[in-house]
Amino acid sequence: MTAVTSALTTDEVLAHLRALQGLDLPAHGGRTLAYVYDSGLADADAVGLEALAMFAGSNGLDPTAFPSLLAMENDLVALAGGLLDAPAGFAGSVTSGGTESILLAVLAARKAGDHPSPSMVLPTSAHAAFHKAAAYLGVRAVVVDVDPDTLRADPVAMAAAIDDSTVLVVASAPSYAHGVIDPVPEIAAAAAAHGIRCHVDACIGGWVLPHLDDVPPWTFAVDGVSSMSVDLHKYAYTPKGVSVLLHRTAALRSTHLFASANWPGYTMLNATMQSTRSGGPLAAAWAVTHRIGLEGYADLARQAREATLATADAADGIPGLRVLAPPDSTLLALATDDSCDAFTVADEMLERGWYVQPQLSFRDLPPTLHLTFSAATSPSVAELVEALSDAVATARAVGPVSVDPGLAALMGGIDPATLDDAGFSGLLAAAGLAGADGSLALPTRMAAVNTLLDACPPALREALLLGVLDRLSRPSDGGPNGGS
Ligand SMILES: Cc1ncc(COP(=O)(O)O)c(C=O)c1O
Repeated sequence: MTAVTSALTTDEVLAHLRALQGLDLPAHGGRTLAYVYDSGLADADAVGLEALAMFAGSNGLDPTAFPSLLAMENDLVALAGGLLDAPAGFAGSVTSGGTESILLAVLAARKAGDHPSPSMVLPTSAHAAFHKAAAYLGVRAVVVDVDPDTLRADPVAMAAAIDDSTVLVVASAPSYAHGVIDPVPEIAAAAAAHGIRCHVDACIGGWVLPHLDDVPPWTFAVDGVSSMSVDLHKYAYTPKGVSVLLHRTAALRSTHLFASANWPGYTMLNATMQSTRSGGPLAAAWAVTHRIGLEGYADLARQAREATLATADAADGIPGLRVLAPPDSTLLALATDDSCDAFTVADEMLERGWYVQPQLSFRDLPPTLHLTFSAATSPSVAELVEALSDAVATARAVGPVSVDPGLAALMGGIDPATLDDAGFSGLLAAAGLAGADGSLALPTRMAAVNTLLDACPPALREALLLGVLDRLSRPSDGGPNGGS
């Protein structure tokens, strides 16, 4: 699409937006099994969108100017505290998402630790947001392999990795990639024994696990857990842009609060990374959570859980496919055997109208397909299983993707630290990913690209994908003043 200069009619604007949205994965319908969460409750969606529009222009920058936003934030924090067993005296903040909550948890631990070269101990399964925090905040990530059998964090190895520089230890409930809950009591005890903080990342599980049976301990009820994150834009089924970060005490939160009176304008006073904050997502979250209510969430959690278990059960019976670890929540990781590859299965699923997310191999862990189950998927589990079965059969018939040896050799010789724009262009051309004008031309089927990336070490994957991001993120044809 080209940029527009002259005003459009409302109908034209909406037609453009609809056309653009047609390029996207569907956010509703329960067939997109990553990125989006669908309760299937039209009423709750509608009231959320109304609240989003009502408060879109309100600004959480100053809680005295917009007391409505403060009231809604305090209410959501209390609701989350109730679900996560927060003790009396806890405090929390609403952030824009899981990554911001994690950045703030790491920042708070770093400032409290006051170490010149701080570090944090993470299981390999911790979300990449902790690596982003490491990069942004100068906190070294000490990464410890998960138990190869359970894919849960190894608390003994993590305890052994704690040293004088450690300011934070991390557990997930559950991990995104494999859907298992780490042994929180042992990890939190190790942190407490050293007098340091333990963050439980419940970004994806925090609104589901309270409603499931037989869940191992994972909340503030565990001694030594100092902070937790839970995203409302995931399993609270609210519009994007809302997570909650909770601390056991207000004192623990104080190290991520920020004030600056060091200029002639208003004193900047923030609890989170953002300063101006739209009231829209917060109000939408308030509206949706109150419209659904705790019993409603219990129902939605059961639906998503049953869909997960039924799919896991069926997937284990599909030749060529296996469940990597029994799911503790509503996420599933599926691996393939040598008869086919996971990436081709993902492409075949997309052809059948289902999005499952390819995950590349990492250390000793094989490539997998990630499935996040929404309540809205539960009526279609039989169709999902049929699609999986067909997709795997087709992938087995064509066999695994093979990488051209010349290209593999070329990739093997690349140093990610020195890969420049010209080198990247050459690589795109060699991989058949360059258009006639040299621009990036991604194929609709991604198995070959994923197989190539899978063969690269993480640092090279990062460099290559940053190259892709850079090429994708360029002004539209004609620039801001181009033709319409
Ligand atoms: C366990 C976990 N932590 C953190 C995040 C990051 O959340 P966000 O994408 O909202 O920044 C996710 C996202 O899926 C997650 O699953």
